[in-house]
Amino acid sequence: MNQITVISPDTAEKADVASNTRKVFIKTYGCQMNVYDSNRMSDALASEGYVPTEEMGEADLILLNTCHIREKAADKVYSALGRLRDMKRTRAEHGRELMIGVTGCVAQAEGEEILRRAPAVDVVVGPQTYHRLPQALTRARQGERVVETDYAVEDKFDHLPKVDKARARARGVTSFLTVQEGCDKFCTFCVVPYTRGSEVSRSVSQIVDEALRLVDSGVREITLLGQNVNAWRGESPKGGEWVLGELLYRLAEIPGLARLRYTTSHPRDMDDCLIEAHRDLRVLMPYLHLPVQAGSDRILKAMNRRHTGAEYLRLIERIRSARPDIAMSGDFIVGFPGETDQDFEDTLKIVEDVKYASAYSFKYSTRPGTPGAELGSQVDEAVKTERLERLQALLLRQQKEFAEACVGKTIDLLLEKPGRMPGQLIGRSPWLQSVNVDAKESQIGDIIQVRIIATGPNSLFAERAGS
Ligand code: 5AD
Ligand code: SF4
Repeated sequence: MNQITVISPDTAEKADVASNTRKVFIKTYGCQMNVYDSNRMSDALASEGYVPTEEMGEADLILLNTCHIREKAADKVYSALGRLRDMKRTRAEHGRELMIGVTGCVAQAEGEEILRRAPAVDVVVGPQTYHRLPQALTRARQGERVVETDYAVEDKFDHLPKVDKARARARGVTSFLTVQEGCDKFCTFCVVPYTRGSEVSRSVSQIVDEALRLVDSGVREITLLGQNVNAWRGESPKGGEWVLGELLYRLAEIPGLARLRYTTSHPRDMDDCLIEAHRDLRVLMPYLHLPVQAGSDRILKAMNRRHTGAEYLRLIERIRSARPDIAMSGDFIVGFPGETDQDFEDTLKIVEDVKYASAYSFKYSTRPGTPGAELGSQVDEAVKTERLERLQALLLRQQKEFAEACVGKTIDLLLEKPGRMPGQLIGRSPWLQSVNVDAKESQIGDIIQVRIIATGPNSLFAERAGS
């Protein structure tokens, strides 16, 4: 049970030992699915007496929940593990335990290799097996160095404790909810199909149950997550199969749930039902992250994206005619093997055509084991850098234009958390922008009407509508 007890620092350690309370620090890398997983791991460890801490220095267990999507992400993990080795050694000299675990996609991809390269690591647990983390720690405490990276036959969600209401409330008024994992698309640059495995959808009842618990604990906005979220399929309560659109219609019925979002989608899986959901559901926010990755059909084919640039643009037209105010977001890769200057110009062209409200863009990073890594004609690093700069300048300009077009508008704002200035809160616009406004902390969770008055580098400024 979580109890708040005030104890003086000199008695803290004794009290912790007496109550068998241990502290866990989780460092989360990468995507939102890892954020969700970190929270669920933290919940699973609560039953083992672990409480979360924000201070790495006071943790008895440090978990690095890792990302393998680009090369640098894994490098960061190994250098963090180097620093943790020193910390573990110092702790040992003072007779205090420090356990270290690596979870997430680097754990899945590297497995035993992590134990070899980083002798301080006690457990390595992949994303499909984190429900086994408590047992892995018990085994590690008995001296074993544990690697748990098999794709578990059991459904981890059946073996994890249900979302804890008090903890959900403490995490805020917005929440992620993973509905789908893995990917069967096999884009030739991407490690996800190998690290997260093939597509698996959670059941309607599991999802609705978790959404109800979240709303019951004060959550106002839920973002459904999946590596390929719009490939989600579930058995409907009346038999037959539901697609994501139908799930959204069901979740929209939950009283008290004010906002719904979902990410990340693949253009091939944007079906009519999902587009209609954008037309019909006021709770479904007008924001869509729909990566295109590149603009040239030749490169899209080499990437195995299974759509052309023209098909993507037509799709966006259909989405915009269903929901004209929708804000588009995307992911882009520059310098995929064989990308010529003309191919890159095609990427700029598609960006010009779509007009994105926000976007993420990356230099192609070779991932061993993916088909892209086998291709000759890798693009020179300097060329990648130059292309990325040009693309990012364009995307940033579009993002600014989108933000500036909001000035003068009256919008709904979900108040999320304290702002930097006293008396200020930060909220989210329907289009996922951060907005600063004067409001009281007791209003966190409210949706209020505000007028946008100015734009800043990464956020907007608003005043109460009518003031
Ligand atoms: N190199 C660069 N970017 C990549 N992404 C995925 N794999 C790679 C890679 N090998 C990007 C894609 C994807 C986002 C999550 O990360 O744009 O949509
Ligand atoms: Fe990776 Fe492509 Fe699947 Fe997205 S759709 S997770 S980029 S393989």
